Amino acid sequence: MTITQQRQLAPRIYEMTLSGHLVQEMKKSGQFLHIRVPREDMLLRRPISINHIDREAGTCRIIYRTEGEGTKVFAQLQAGEQLDVLGPLGNGFDLSQIQAGDEVYIIGGGIGIPPLYELSRRILALGAVPIHFLGFASKEVMYYTEEFKALGECRFATDDGSFGVHGNVGNLLLTALAAEGYGDNPPAAVFACGNNGMLKTVDQLFSDHPNAQISLESRMACGIGACYACVCHIADDETGQKSVKVCDQGPIFPVGKVVI
Ligand SMILES: Cc1cc2nc3c(=O)[nH]c(=O)nc-3n(C[C@H](O)[C@H](O)[C@H](O)COP(=O)(O)OP(=O)(O)OC[C@H]3O[C@@H](n4cnc5c(N)ncnc54)[C@H](O)[C@@H]3O)c2cc1C
Ligand code: FES
Repeated sequence: MTITQQRQLAPRIYEMTLSGHLVQEMKKSGQFLHIRVPREDMLLRRPISINHIDREAGTCRIIYRTEGEGTKVFAQLQAGEQLDVLGPLGNGFDLSQIQAGDEVYIIGGGIGIPPLYELSRRILALGAVPIHFLGFASKEVMYYTEEFKALGECRFATDDGSFGVHGNVGNLLLTALAAEGYGDNPPAAVFACGNNGMLKTVDQLFSDHPNAQISLESRMACGIGACYACVCHIADDETGQKSVKVCDQGPIFPVGKVVI
């Protein structure tokens, strides 16, 4: 794919727009791209979620945070340069049960937020009502707040209290559910992506919910189900031997399915 734009959204957070035929294969939200770092000594691809798909324009966007060497190389790339991209990979969010008028919770933390943008756009397109619960480390590293607000109601939390509710997104959710009497008015669906602590909270809070889905992050190598680098244990397995591969059976699972 060709990089058509790269811009910095916040400290260490970048948005990259890519164009190429591969966009026509991108049909679901929650899938990811496995991107080769254009440096010969880096053999493993880096998994990055698809943030926005525009099939008409033939472009897609990713948002990433620089962590180690690979993502630092990505941040130095310029418009016009080419990237070797494998994808779209993974199962994607299942929206088959969503109906017009449904209230849908979209819960994201930090660098788990990017795939939720395309998800929220699709939920809105189905006539449902997305309500976003988004958590960041601080006001300084917030991004895409206006973009999410344009799609629906947003509630924010920051770990240091510099914007929105003080604390993590789990606290934000617990406060909102307690205040609004969750039992009387449950959302039709719940979708979440973020760190394992946040996903654990969602997994427990919505354990009985019929349509709650979480997107897991795990270290990957091949990205296509061949190497078993990304396995995760199944929750209701007494032997502790059964596992799923996050890359091709996930990254999205119903709550209660895997051990987080
Ligand atoms: C399905 C999926 C979707 C993701 N989506 C995004 C996204 O949209 N934006 C974003 O910023 N990050 C995302 N990540 C995390 C991202 O893949 C890692 O931050 C990135 O691979 C780090 O690479 P690095 O070379 O900078 O770091 P290094 O630590 O130098 O990486 C060394 C190796 O570890 C792997 N690795 C390191 N951290 C992770 C991690 N958290 N998950 C998986 N592999 C890791 C790398 O791929 C590489 O092979 C996603 C991860 C997964 C599994
Ligand atoms: S990364 Fe190879 S099987 Fe999942």
